[in-house]
Amino acid sequence: MSPEGPFPGRRPKQLRSDEYMQLQRLVKGHAGLHLSSKKRQEVELKLAQWLRPGLNGAGLLADLARSPERLQELAEELTVGETYFYRNRPHFKALRTHVIPTLIRDAGAHRKLSFWSAGCATGEEPYSLAMLLDQHFPMLDRWSIHIRGSDLNRQFLERARQAVYSRWSLRSLEPELVERYFTRTNSYDPSSDYSHQLVAKLKRRVTVAEHNLTVDLDPPNLPPGGFDLVLCRNVLIYFDRPDSDRVITRLIGALRPGGYLFVGHVDSYPALGALDAEYKCGTFYYRKPTCPKPHRTSETQLIPGLAVRSVPPGATTTGGAVAPPKKRSTQRHLTPKRTTTPPAEEQTEDALNRARVQANTGQAAAALTSLQRLAERSGRLDHRVHFLRALVADQAGLRAQAQQSLRQALFLKRDFVVAHYFKGVVAERSQDWSVAQRCFQNAHELLQARFPDEVLEETGGLTAGRLHEILDQRLRFLRTEMETR
Ligand SMILES: C[S@@+](CC[C@H](N)C(=O)[O-])C[C@H]1O[C@@H](n2cnc3c(N)ncnc32)[C@H](O)[C@@H]1O
Repeated sequence: MSPEGPFPGRRPKQLRSDEYMQLQRLVKGHAGLHLSSKKRQEVELKLAQWLRPGLNGAGLLADLARSPERLQELAEELTVGETYFYRNRPHFKALRTHVIPTLIRDAGAHRKLSFWSAGCATGEEPYSLAMLLDQHFPMLDRWSIHIRGSDLNRQFLERARQAVYSRWSLRSLEPELVERYFTRTNSYDPSSDYSHQLVAKLKRRVTVAEHNLTVDLDPPNLPPGGFDLVLCRNVLIYFDRPDSDRVITRLIGALRPGGYLFVGHVDSYPALGALDAEYKCGTFYYRKPTCPKPHRTSETQLIPGLAVRSVPPGATTTGGAVAPPKKRSTQRHLTPKRTTTPPAEEQTEDALNRARVQANTGQAAAALTSLQRLAERSGRLDHRVHFLRALVADQAGLRAQAQQSLRQALFLKRDFVVAHYFKGVVAERSQDWSVAQRCFQNAHELLQARFPDEVLEETGGLTAGRLHEILDQRLRFLRTEMETR
């Protein structure tokens, strides 16, 4: 089907705004997919083939509301199955060098490992895992290994079962791996490029099943005790924030204590706060603590890897490093008489600290109110106030407010590195690839003037060197995404 539907060249029939909203509700309820207004044109293009003479928007919506099967078909039409073998190399490097060796050590005598690729599309992700195990951990041949893939889209799952791939899917594999793990075939679809059949040994290791992450409570074949590793990469971006958090909470529930969770680059959600973030091989991933974490009171991860810490009273955060509180003068006669109203600077520091504590303990509304007051009074010219406001607003799902506060923070301090970085993270999450690239490049350039061990302002300890690594990785990821779209 042409991307314009059955009538190429013709503008697709439009849904009225209320109809589009109804469609949004139906699709969200069925599959969690968040059809933002930005995607409206793209969605309507896909819908063109569903609207035929005699079936207008209202008729189609009535059909969809009546028939879960039709709704499933539409959800399948709207899902994006972009994937390829060894997508996001740093993840696979971290799996090879840290995660799998730890899991093997933990498994000890029982010699069993269970993996789940949630939102596996056409199977490249779970098969990449099988490939990695075969390549680097041959002793696992004698273990009981189960890799499960699941997806909402039945057509994708059927292709995963066939395990016949195009060159495009293999684009990031070295020729030796293609040689070792694929045989040439023409049987699947001789007219297309689908000519690489995965070898039986890897195919056997993976089973796939239909599963809807936003609706089905239990994962497919949940092993007793939970999975050792769950991959749910590049899936959550299609959901809205509350649904993503709900899904993450379920994924965490499906992990055994000590198990690992990998989400996509751009996926950063409050629910991940229940896990320990690890940063290895230039990438973040998460581990479920062996005993539940106490409610965070001292720090939170509003941006992956970046904590926002409260600062001891009287300390300053110049350049990011927390300087100890200044000693009060012992010379009584020089000490100004303490007034009942502290100076504006002190008020700002105290109020900022209060807001940080509120943000860190999940009291987003209270933090926003404190910051709003600050932004109207003593802190209006303080870039940190606006930045913290952006972080908390983003965490609370208030995207427009987050973006406005970020703009203000950057207006007040043009070389505020972490604000450029965070602006890029937000843009990346909305798939504004070129904006994200520009922001990351700005941050990258600003870092050239910093020493690698310099702690960056408002990052809770992140050094310039480390952010440099993160930016390199994110820019590489963006280049790949932009090339493949
Ligand atoms: C872009 S692909 C990601 C594939 C793979 N995880 C990767 O990173 O390469 C997103 C997949 O999520 C699936 N998906 C979207 N909504 C889902 C839902 N509610 N439940 C399960 N899978 C879903 C889509 O069908 C699609 O196959």
